[in-house]
Amino acid sequence: MKIFADTAIISEIEEVSSWGIISGVTTNPSLIAKSGISLEDAIRKIVNLVDGPISAEVAEADAESMVEEAKLYSRMHKNIVIKIPMTIEGVKAVKLLTALKIKTNVTLVFTASQALMAATAGATYVSPFMGRLDDLLQTNDAGYILLKEIKDMFKTYNFKTQIIAASIRNLEHVNQSLKAGADIATIPYKVLKEMVKHELTDKGLEIFREAAKK
Ligand code: E4P
Repeated sequence: MKIFADTAIISEIEEVSSWGIISGVTTNPSLIAKSGISLEDAIRKIVNLVDGPISAEVAEADAESMVEEAKLYSRMHKNIVIKIPMTIEGVKAVKLLTALKIKTNVTLVFTASQALMAATAGATYVSPFMGRLDDLLQTNDAGYILLKEIKDMFKTYNFKTQIIAASIRNLEHVNQSLKAGADIATIPYKVLKEMVKHELTDKGLEIFREAAKK
């Protein structure tokens, strides 16, 4: 499972890209607003930090305008993937962009039938939102079950669309993404840092360092 950084904050991307394990970046309008810079400026900076798919989300709502907006972002760099919301206009836009060989990431996916629509239209990626689904249903496995359903469906029907586990809130979501066989997990900075931690690692390191001094 590849690891993407789910952030548009440049200092965070700089730091995590220096670890050498980040294969891509996803942004969305909320993350861009938090970053304090425009989407265009974020794209210009991120492409120099991470050499992999960088998702940029369209703001337009109708298919033709989405395609025009998508063309602008995709002209900026070869690694740009256009993030399209899961709507009928979005599905139409994915179909048109696929014909233009522009890669797409269909976002705000909460059901297997939405993922089927996106994949049938030719989406390069679908992003099922684990955390938001668990929040809504007040469970800790609805996101996992959704990922599994989509994974099984793509396998049964031989879709090439890759699954990006999104809206990850904690380490359990990362483990569930692995268990479900997601192709990619897009992970926020806070969770990326938690992934290297364990209390026994810290304790063990302390013991080994003391021993090394002797
Ligand atoms: C990534 O592609 C999604 O936009 C992101 O993971 C959503 O996360 P959130 O539910 O924490 O806003």
